[in-house]
Amino acid sequence: MPSNRLLEKRRDFFYRLAKKEGYRSRASYKLLQANKDLHFIKNGDTVIDLGAAPGGWMQAAREIVGDTGLVIGVDVSPIRDFPDQNVKSLRGDIKNPQTVSGLKEISGGRADVVLSDVSPNLSGIWEVDHARQLDLAQTSLQIARDFLEIGGAFFCKVFQGDLLDDFLKELRLIFQVVKIIKPKASKSQSSEIYVLGLSPRFAVRNT
Ligand SMILES: C[S@@+](CC[C@H](N)C(=O)[O-])C[C@H]1O[C@@H](n2cnc3c(N)ncnc32)[C@H](O)[C@@H]1O
Repeated sequence: MPSNRLLEKRRDFFYRLAKKEGYRSRASYKLLQANKDLHFIKNGDTVIDLGAAPGGWMQAAREIVGDTGLVIGVDVSPIRDFPDQNVKSLRGDIKNPQTVSGLKEISGGRADVVLSDVSPNLSGIWEVDHARQLDLAQTSLQIARDFLEIGGAFFCKVFQGDLLDDFLKELRLIFQVVKIIKPKASKSQSSEIYVLGLSPRFAVRNT
């Protein structure tokens, strides 16, 4: 008999839509909706996607960047290969410097957009999960700082809680524009929100 979780999934609108439209996860719609409103990914862009498995955001990003862009997904879990030459995956922990070196090799050391949907395994203890997730968001921000071009964008999931304010303060120091987004496809009962940083003040590229 299917579990409650599986039954809930099957009833979910975006889960069923993703199945129908061939996306690997319902998360694709979160990125598509956010980008439809805010246009931070553009045709021809190089996009790094952190915490990318099973690859729903990679599919969405590939649609937006078209044939001339590049999408690179990173995850500790394997990501099934894509048929497109310009969609590449790397298996590794974003906290491991070797993973970052691998990313540099594939991307040439630069990106127009860094995405992060990274989530820890949930313990069910809110303070613990919030702290672990913010720590991964912080690592994602560091990678964004290393790779982003002037005019680039950082789009990152964060769990709401005590530590969020400090993270937002840091984002405001680094980016000229910071927005907080809750796409329709993100469940209202979920504490996740997304932050978007535009135009890093301290981009190391093209300076
Ligand atoms: C919500 S899922 C991402 C879904 C994805 N955006 C999509 O559209 O299919 C979060 C991912 O973060 C990954 N993750 C967690 N910790 C990580 C780490 N330290 N390094 C790399 N990936 C990590 C998990 O393996 C998981 O696949």
